[in-house]
Amino acid sequence: MPAYAVLGAQWGDEGKGKIIDVLARDADIVARFSGGNNAGHTVVNDEGVFSFHLIPCGVFWPQTLNVIGNGVVLDPDVFLEEVDGLKEQGHDVSDRLLVSERAHIVMPYHVVLDELTEKARGSDAIGTTGKGIGPTYADKAARTGIRAADLLDVEALLPRLENIVNHTNKIITAVYDGTPVSMTDIFDKCRDWSERLGPFIAPVERIVYEYLEAGRNVLLEGAQGALLDLDHGTYPFVTSSNPTIGGACVGLGIHPNYISNIIGVFKAYSTRVGSGPFPTELTDETGERIRNLAQEFGVTTGRARRVGWFDAVAAKFSTQVNGYTSAVLTRLDVLDGFDSIMVCTAYELDGERTEEFPGGVAALERCKPILEEMKGWTSPTAGATDFSKLPKEAVAYVQRIQELIGCPIDVISTGPHRDEVIRVREVIGV
Ligand code: GDP
Ligand code: IMO
Ligand code: MG
Repeated sequence: MPAYAVLGAQWGDEGKGKIIDVLARDADIVARFSGGNNAGHTVVNDEGVFSFHLIPCGVFWPQTLNVIGNGVVLDPDVFLEEVDGLKEQGHDVSDRLLVSERAHIVMPYHVVLDELTEKARGSDAIGTTGKGIGPTYADKAARTGIRAADLLDVEALLPRLENIVNHTNKIITAVYDGTPVSMTDIFDKCRDWSERLGPFIAPVERIVYEYLEAGRNVLLEGAQGALLDLDHGTYPFVTSSNPTIGGACVGLGIHPNYISNIIGVFKAYSTRVGSGPFPTELTDETGERIRNLAQEFGVTTGRARRVGWFDAVAAKFSTQVNGYTSAVLTRLDVLDGFDSIMVCTAYELDGERTEEFPGGVAALERCKPILEEMKGWTSPTAGATDFSKLPKEAVAYVQRIQELIGCPIDVISTGPHRDEVIRVREVIGV
């Protein structure tokens, strides 16, 4: 059972990129399975500081093949720019990078529609990343999507594309009073993509299957987080894919029997970008302090991230959906120097205490956090690599979170760099 899933356990930005870079040491394939360039994954190692939106974060380990699965929506311009950018920095990874022939393409009109629909939502806006993700998945479900394989024969694609563009332009102009997109420009783009993206397009699902059958380690790189899941997240303030474990299987065409570890990445506190309920949100100076200390600004949009205490109700729900066998706790160092640290252990909903994470957005908006106070620590955890050297209050905090989420914390991250990590227990190849 050589597949290991690394999943965002909160609202995204938990530090998945860093953890993938750490764990990919022991991987043969690193595979993205959902989302698109709404993701922003940061990797910091001796090669530098990198922000990846589409390229899997395993590329710095030369033995890895890095693949983008059928569940991902891919903007070819962003992907090719990322490949070229890496090459300019001396990292030519093009011979270890593949895109599934079944992956859907983010077309220019999807980006236009993302912006127009958000504007039309007014005060109900989701706060999307504006990268065309929702409209691309909507077209996928409506069976009007364009897949990577379609770009390999653009002449055959032409009549279907014309129909789709005509229909989309009717929506853009009649519903949103927007400017129609140019079919000629789009077709020229498809020709260009055919040439430049073509060499990356491959039967990714079959290749991943062959690696799995050969018992080689496949690391599944999650994007977003469980609470942004289209089904299980805080709908409608969610993304349009399934970043949860089911999405990993569907998004790469692998069956669950291959998965031996499901690794949930939790931040030592909470953040969220965009709109939607956030029971432990801190809108006071403590929130501001954490945001500034941790530089909580989005990798994809630069937006200030909303900040709050660790929410164990949401975390338990995330564990329920994903069945984590291991947890990773990141950004523990950000809490260095706080006198006290709060953890939300239950909600008060309409005067009643509850440990349930409500499915309805209105109920979740009414939830007030019930907080447990924990003593902070004075000596730093930043850069620590040895669990036994952590201050005792930090150990107590980690243990309390472990108890609340109900699964062992096997890795603790104490800084952005690859080496700033405590490996309590190996999680890959075990
Ligand atoms: P992702 O989307 O889950 O990959 O997370 P992001 O890259 O969007 O955001 C995580 C941020 O935290 C990045 O700036 C990382 O460099 C940084 N980071 C990751 N782990 C740690 C950690 O343990 N401590 C600190 N201080 N920063 C971290
Ligand atoms: P990573 O992989 C944090 C959020 C957006 C918005 C909602 C819908 O870096 O953790 P979308 O553009 O997907 O339609 O936006 O989802 N969102 C993320 N928030 N991290 C991410 O990815 C996110 N990807 C989408 O801010 O609230
Ligand atoms: Mg991110």
